[in-house]
Amino acid sequence: MDERIISRDAQLADDWQYSLRPRRLSEYIGQDKAKQNLSVFVKAALTRREALDHVLLYGPPGLGKTTLAGIIANELGVNFKQTSGPAIERAGDLAAILTNLQPRDVLFIDEIHRLSRQIEEILYSAMEDFALDIIIGKGAGARSIRLDIAPFTLIGATTKAGSLSPPLRDRFGVISRLEYYSTEALIEIITRAAEILNIPIEANGAAEIARRSRGTPRIANRLLKRVRDFAQVENSATITDEIADRALIALEVDRVGLDHTDRRLLDAMINKFGGRPVGLDTLAASISETRETIEDIYEPYLLQLGFIMRTPRGRIVTEAGYQHMGATFPKADNQPTLFDFE
Ligand code: ADE
Repeated sequence: MDERIISRDAQLADDWQYSLRPRRLSEYIGQDKAKQNLSVFVKAALTRREALDHVLLYGPPGLGKTTLAGIIANELGVNFKQTSGPAIERAGDLAAILTNLQPRDVLFIDEIHRLSRQIEEILYSAMEDFALDIIIGKGAGARSIRLDIAPFTLIGATTKAGSLSPPLRDRFGVISRLEYYSTEALIEIITRAAEILNIPIEANGAAEIARRSRGTPRIANRLLKRVRDFAQVENSATITDEIADRALIALEVDRVGLDHTDRRLLDAMINKFGGRPVGLDTLAASISETRETIEDIYEPYLLQLGFIMRTPRGRIVTEAGYQHMGATFPKADNQPTLFDFE
């Protein structure tokens, strides 16, 4: 069974993770910059007894955008309503959600870049004026009426801030980028999760998992669970670095956290395309993945590690990427130079 460690739907599938979610800002580890700023904005909004300004959270999947949105609602002491861009198909769906909000509630829209244009336009006036413009009737008899809604906070999350339409992006008062977590932060997250789940783990064991979690808490927590299975079957009382290493090798997660698909991707770029720049679609087709999966899930971490680079002509593997794959970096090209013509 191909149960991926790095899965787009992991968050929804994983109830196990639910209990691990921090509920307060003070329990949330890492993302210090975003956390500090948000705590100021939350306090100020509470003091003024106003709805917090709309917040856009962006960054790679699994870094805790939903968790952070839930925490913001909790800190504000308001309801947290959750939906996603693709789930809102018709204008009526959005109108129903918006008209049911209580004053200052948080509405969280995940994958907000996937809202249709028509829905986006309804959101504009909702965000700006806390009003809904609804068309009643059809043809010549159609009229537009304006419905007031409660002042609310929209928290949008996206993996790609660049694919949000500019008018929508401009309506967020707070735009916060989530970064990959440091190994130290992931060690804390793993240690906290192990405590909650009653999993004995040594500091070295947590560090081994942290180093191999691609800077991503969701992956760290999933790996912890898998490593625990290995420890249990081997009758080990605790997770050591040695057990973690063995489990992660069995799971095909390498020293820096790359999985089977990351390595297939690098391998294709090095061996199939001979290190020449490759376009995203060509690459996707060559390893039978979708363009979106590569762009949203695999590429960001490979870019972060400095294993690949984007150039105007396509993606290329860097020297560090060749080294990691145990391949020889091609020498600077043997193009003729002026000297060759002397
Ligand atoms: N679990 C997942 N992400 C977390 C975070 N940022 N802080 C604490 N626990 C977490």
